[in-house]
Amino acid sequence: MYNYNLHQQVNLDLQKSELDLTGKDNLFYTRFMANLSALHALYMDLYRHHPKADEKFNQLVATITDAYKERSAALKQRDEDKQKKGFWFLSNEITGMSLYVDRFCGNLQNMEEKLSYFKKLGVNFLHLMPIFESPQGESDGGYAVSDFRKVAERFGTLQDLKSLQKKMSKEGMYLMVDIVLNHTSRLHEWALKAKQGDAYYQDYFYMYDDRSLPDKFEKAMPEIFPESSPGSFTYIEECNKWVMTVFHNYQWDLNYTNPSVFVDMLDNIFFYANLGIDILRIDAPAFIWKQLDTTCQNLPQAHTILQLIKQCVQIATPGMALLGEAIVAPKEIQKYFGTGLATAKECDFAYNATQMALQWDALATGNTKVMLAAQYEILKKPYGTTWITYTRCHDDIGLGYDDYMIENAGFNAYEHRKYLKNYYSGSIKSSPAKGALFSVNPKTQDARISGSLASLCGLEKALDENDVQATEMAIRKILMMQAQSFFIGSVPMIFYGDELGYTNDYSYLDDPGKSYDNRWMHRPVIDWDKNKMIEDEGTIEHRIFSATQHLISIRKKLDVVADRKNITWLAPHNIHITGYLRSDGDKKLFCLFNFSHAQAYLTWFAFKEHGPAPTKLYDHWSNQYFTVGQDHEYLVMEPYTFHLFEAQ
Ligand code: GLC
Repeated sequence: MYNYNLHQQVNLDLQKSELDLTGKDNLFYTRFMANLSALHALYMDLYRHHPKADEKFNQLVATITDAYKERSAALKQRDEDKQKKGFWFLSNEITGMSLYVDRFCGNLQNMEEKLSYFKKLGVNFLHLMPIFESPQGESDGGYAVSDFRKVAERFGTLQDLKSLQKKMSKEGMYLMVDIVLNHTSRLHEWALKAKQGDAYYQDYFYMYDDRSLPDKFEKAMPEIFPESSPGSFTYIEECNKWVMTVFHNYQWDLNYTNPSVFVDMLDNIFFYANLGIDILRIDAPAFIWKQLDTTCQNLPQAHTILQLIKQCVQIATPGMALLGEAIVAPKEIQKYFGTGLATAKECDFAYNATQMALQWDALATGNTKVMLAAQYEILKKPYGTTWITYTRCHDDIGLGYDDYMIENAGFNAYEHRKYLKNYYSGSIKSSPAKGALFSVNPKTQDARISGSLASLCGLEKALDENDVQATEMAIRKILMMQAQSFFIGSVPMIFYGDELGYTNDYSYLDDPGKSYDNRWMHRPVIDWDKNKMIEDEGTIEHRIFSATQHLISIRKKLDVVADRKNITWLAPHNIHITGYLRSDGDKKLFCLFNFSHAQAYLTWFAFKEHGPAPTKLYDHWSNQYFTVGQDHEYLVMEPYTFHLFEAQ
């Protein structure tokens, strides 16, 4: 709502700046004025009672203005181009890959040479795993940042990053990096000052003189890394205080009840925006607000902070979309897109962690009932936002969907999860999967799963045992898992190495900075001699790479795959087969996946339940035509195969 004092004050501030408010900077001015009320309301929701609320709000306004001023003309043009396209990120033409620069090709300079590799595959969007300074040996894969603005020497320089961004942008590629919002490394400047007794910076963290509040907090807070980092607080001898460390003991949680922390971190966000980042991955947003007697996850204020960030970004650097990495319960994930008046005004992207885990569920059981039981929740995603879909990423697989989803499918939740964990960690002899349990909580027996896509699909074991038939099945599983996540309505994110079937890499066990964390088994060091084999027909590498390439090219040519909230799940005629329909007017794409180790039969009636029945289907995957049969006849699907049928 219009507020004379507020609007007049910001208006005057902007008039005083050197911006050309009626000319080239008019769009910025319009955006600022349009968003100001919402921005102010969100800010005051968090900080109304803070003694420095007004002073920090003025600083916030200045931070936004400076960010816009510092944005290059090229990026401002890119912002405008993206805005003209509408929701540019809903497109079916974007396919991503997530990778560790050092493990992929050494450093940022080498990345430029590798752009042709991505082009060949069809990938035009890169997520560079954290490259900013982070102490080796206690870096959590780069998620313990000691300097948000300095590229760690082992990756190169800021100049290298800028040069890579320019080259990518010229080639029509998009770039994503992380802002690790929840915590800093214990070696970050703010943490060092706090440790030395500086009260101003102690207020940047949750620091306590004794265990009384930490004990109270811990009563309700689940442990994230119970094996390697139990508890949520760490004693700091130098200042004789306890600091909150929800993740590892070297990752200090930032205190967002202090508006200075918000403004400083917003400034870091703009620093990334002005490097030309297209999508900013907000790491662990579920944790950014803490409150006694709660789990300190998914609190309403965490959403307020994200909405506030969105408003600020929309004003100064509107071409940068936000991805909230909330790997939480299905209905909590939805909230990161915004709720109520803020619907579709929070994160533009979230990870479809529920779907990812459900695919692993279906692969282990051969039964797709739980996946179907969960869809009604997943489908609530608002128009104008989208998913990152994936089968594997650098993290573990958490079976975080709700018990009632498992129960609605007719299973006992505890036994069902136990089976999945045993299946993937290799304790069921007949299971072809080779993974490991991650972060087993001895108190709750809760655990997640580590392992690469290929190893969890059985390739490692099949190769060890020289089993041709099992190798064939593993390859089919890999491709079916990828295909299901590619066409579901999202931006697919391939994890590097999976495009050619890398199995687990156990070299992490020799590195004391990594050996305590088995997620490193699925973060391979790329061997470019092996990668050359993508050219050799008949090799596994060639088969998986060219099939992945084919999947991406199909996605790119089918506009119906763009995320217009145009997905309908097919009725479950066969529990082994999942199917969804992507449609737009007359255009229909039926995507079907057989999760069974045996042939599965699907009545042709399945194709007749959604508008006029097609008579013919063209399978983009196999390049074959199929004639739709009578209702009592069946489409026969071979084990672990899929179809991408366009209705004719
Ligand atoms: C995110 C990252 C994970 C990291 C954690 C703490 O969940 O994906 O790798 O350990 O945040 O920063």
